[in-house]
Amino acid sequence: MKVLVIGSGGREHALVWKIRQSPSVEQVFCVPGNAGIAREASCKPADLPAALKDPRQLADLAVELGADLTVVGPEAPLAAGLADALLARGLRVAGPVQAAAQLEASKIFAKQFLRRHRIPTADFVVCDDRATAEAALGRWGGPVVLKADGLAAGKGVVVASEPLQARAVLDALLSGRLVGEAGRRIVLEEKLDGEEVSFQVLTDGQAVVPLVPTQDHKAVWDDDLGPNTGGMGAYCDDRILSEYLSRNILDEIVYPTLDGLRDEGIVYRGVLYCGLMITADGPKVLEYNVRFGDPETQALLYRFRGDLAETLLSVSTGTLGTAKFDWEPGASVCVVACSGGYPGEYATGKPITGIEAAEAVGAKLFHSGTSERNGCFATAGGRVLGVTARGSTLATAVQSVYDATSKLHFEGMHYRRDIARKGLARSRPL
Ligand code: AMP
Ligand code: GLY
Repeated sequence: MKVLVIGSGGREHALVWKIRQSPSVEQVFCVPGNAGIAREASCKPADLPAALKDPRQLADLAVELGADLTVVGPEAPLAAGLADALLARGLRVAGPVQAAAQLEASKIFAKQFLRRHRIPTADFVVCDDRATAEAALGRWGGPVVLKADGLAAGKGVVVASEPLQARAVLDALLSGRLVGEAGRRIVLEEKLDGEEVSFQVLTDGQAVVPLVPTQDHKAVWDDDLGPNTGGMGAYCDDRILSEYLSRNILDEIVYPTLDGLRDEGIVYRGVLYCGLMITADGPKVLEYNVRFGDPETQALLYRFRGDLAETLLSVSTGTLGTAKFDWEPGASVCVVACSGGYPGEYATGKPITGIEAAEAVGAKLFHSGTSERNGCFATAGGRVLGVTARGSTLATAVQSVYDATSKLHFEGMHYRRDIARKGLARSRPL
């Protein structure tokens, strides 16, 4: 089969890399891809945000390429209705329709959906204007979380620990300074305490198959300090959650979400990512994503032993059935090497050295923001490379990923040194 992957980051590189390993795949295309992906797939240059103004054009491209399956990496194409456009042409797509993508594209939609279906989440108030927001600021008598309604590439959420900060963030959101139009409507919510877990499942509209839980590291600096990023690293380990808690998450969160969608007339086919806080009162939903996590997917797919193309094809055709996946034993870790200044402003075009040396010690480097000229790679984004390794234990995976990362160099490069530390410190699952 021919598979088209949409996107240009580390997640898409991991998808392309794994899909290519399927015996039934004859060709992989990627739109637009990146310099690393270009070594493993046929990339079709495109200005994705511009192309999404009319997703029908991308769907036409899928027809032209003869894609038997389209796998959509990022949320924006799904929110723009790419799955709908592909389905309208009779094509197969792993990724939900626009109506379902609202779960990620609008925090207000997601929170109201959660409340409607009595799915555990933080208490919240939807604010369309300053007066409602100011009245709600003190509602929980402590820290407050401010969330822009719209898509903001991970930058639309601020946890404000004291009232002055909360007021300043409120101003920045409502004035459009923080994330533009996405922040004109906001959600204020109570701050939850606990550990965060990324719980992803594949579903074909009926069957639900959970993937191994992962933990992301969103803050830029060690010990979860500093501003949030798109994700600085992740690890994948069966021992993050106990069997009891995994079951509880399926029963209290995943099934009610998919049932709720179905009751509202939406059949969901793709990956459902539940961003959870494991609180003292049990797991609660922080956010939904309607696609694979980045960088969770890099760690996850490095352990996935199955046939990803066939699996995603069965997601798209409603034939996932009782699939059970096989995983490399142990654990895997992805550390993201970033440009100096990221998540703020950063320079690009810095030559990268050590990629082969890092891979020689057993890691796989998934490219996020790189360019290539005459066989040499240079930086081309904030998140540059996802160094990914596995081991028979989490400790050996961590050792191996940092061995590999130490071989890599570009001017200004920074990365977190504590990816998976919470997992190492945990004596038993959450
Ligand atoms: P979101 O995009 O809604 O997942 O928010 C981004 C990040 O902000 C989450 O991964 C959490 O680290 C943090 N966050 C969001 N909502 C809350 C909350 N209610 N309590 C504590 N932290 C939160
Ligand atoms: N790693 C978080 C996300 O993909 O949204």
